[in-house]
Amino acid sequence: MSSITVNVIDRDGTRTPDVEWNDHESLMEALTRNKFPILATCGGNASCSTCHCYLGSAAETANSSSPIEDEEEDVLDMLDDTRHDDSRLTCQVEWSEELNGAEVTIAPEW
Ligand code: FES
Repeated sequence: MSSITVNVIDRDGTRTPDVEWNDHESLMEALTRNKFPILATCGGNASCSTCHCYLGSAAETANSSSPIEDEEEDVLDMLDDTRHDDSRLTCQVEWSEELNGAEVTIAPEW
């Protein structure tokens, strides 16, 4: 098993460095396993948006290793104000070594 680490910024601005992300997990699964407040109510099916995060400068890398499919695009479209250029549903972001050290900011709840 391989793993990388990402830095996570919580909704209150707290930054947690070196959060482990294992290669069999989506980014959402890594965040929930590490007890971040991600509800993931749809269980990773790109339909609830409760796993929404901002990927900052890592967005481009994530978008090339895990392209945004139609289902995710539809859900992101409904987010209006909270959707940014670097928004992703983290359940759709697959592990990639190139995302090592990425800065992941948890999006506001609604
Ligand atoms: S867990 Fe529901 S959209 Fe990602």
